[in-house]
Amino acid sequence: MGDAGSSSAGAKRSAANGSRLDEAEVLDRLRLVGEAFRPAAPIDRRSLFSGRSEQISELFSIAAQPGQHAVIFGERGVGKTSLAAVTAEMLKSANMLVARATCDVSDDFGSVWRKALDELRLHTTTQKVGFTGGTEETSHSLARLLGDDVKDPAGRVLFADTIKTLSDRVVRATITLIGVADSVSELVREHRSVERALAQIHMPRMTRQELSEIATRGIEAAQMGIRPDAVRRIATLSQGLPHYTQLLTQLAAQSALAARRRVVTGRDVDVAVGRALERAQQSVVEAYQEATADTRKSIYPQVLLACALAPEDDFGLFAASDVCGPLGRILGKPYKTAAFARHLDEFSQESRGEVLQKHGTGRTTRYRFLNPLLQPYVAMRGVSEGVVRVQDLG
Ligand SMILES: Nc1ncnc2c1ncn2[C@@H]1O[C@H](COP(=O)(O)OP(=O)(O)OP(=O)(O)O)[C@@H](O)[C@H]1O
Ligand SMILES: [Mg+2]
Repeated sequence: MGDAGSSSAGAKRSAANGSRLDEAEVLDRLRLVGEAFRPAAPIDRRSLFSGRSEQISELFSIAAQPGQHAVIFGERGVGKTSLAAVTAEMLKSANMLVARATCDVSDDFGSVWRKALDELRLHTTTQKVGFTGGTEETSHSLARLLGDDVKDPAGRVLFADTIKTLSDRVVRATITLIGVADSVSELVREHRSVERALAQIHMPRMTRQELSEIATRGIEAAQMGIRPDAVRRIATLSQGLPHYTQLLTQLAAQSALAARRRVVTGRDVDVAVGRALERAQQSVVEAYQEATADTRKSIYPQVLLACALAPEDDFGLFAASDVCGPLGRILGKPYKTAAFARHLDEFSQESRGEVLQKHGTGRTTRYRFLNPLLQPYVAMRGVSEGVVRVQDLG
């Protein structure tokens, strides 16, 4: 980190050339940078949370309507749990009783309710809920249950039945389920009459504006600054997924602090991309290697990169024809879909780790990255290896 010098010498130097921070200032900001970004866990504090105001209002309005329940669904890593956690905090401050249960594969209908009801009991005994004229009855009637990731199929039917019953009897409680898109359509399919009672809140990928806000807000909280071009790069590289925005901005801020700079630049973002690739989840790295492995010279890596750059819809789906443009740019000559149809097909098979999920057949076939986090990883590799430029990421 260069010559540290004493703190007072550092202060003099920092006064002399304005932008250099002294050692104490660097350490202070390193701590703030650690607190301001959360790449590895859902957010539960409003101050760290950006955007999604539409979804929050929708949840508030659903909570106020008797007989209405909600399901939050979207791609993995898009921010469902964070939305539920932050909205729950906000509802609590509005004096509602809220309980949240996180489910895993070992949970069933009974265990999810036990978790949620235990949490409600804890609230009602340890903290007097301030309802005017509130009886035990009204406080429970205002209870909300946020069930997370209901996977067990039998449990899904039971949840659908419960929602239907609560809705028909106009019980003043709101259930909000959270899950990935496929489990939601199954839930509704299994119990058609629940559809009306269940407002579907789709979480699209985040807009660049929202992602930029994550970066600038966090940087501000860390008492640092960031150049507009650095924000743009981060927002583009994140491809709508807030995890990467959190990670890249945190790493870029650390890179600036390593050079005792207060302001994060585009160069710091380049450093951050390299680090993010090194630190990527093992599962993501392995999926990439399995998908692109070949002993001969092949275009698997290029086709996968083109898939990562293909314009996709709100559900992360793209068609083979969407891959032509990016692949042409990567390989420097035009490509027709027939030239890589086999590659796409293989990406959706076990031999290449099923990195793509295939939807529909024939002309309506669409693909999507099974693990959405793989897509920005592939794009960042492309940028880091100099195959594409950040501005090509769209
Ligand atoms: N609105 C937001 N503002 C800032 N950061 C966010 C926001 N939403 C999510 N994040 C960040 O994005 C990452 C993923 O969020 P989260 O865990 O809520 O997603 P998820 O959809 O529940 O993922 P999974 O499908 O894996 O459960 C986390 O690092 C979180 O800190
Ligand atoms: Mg989640």
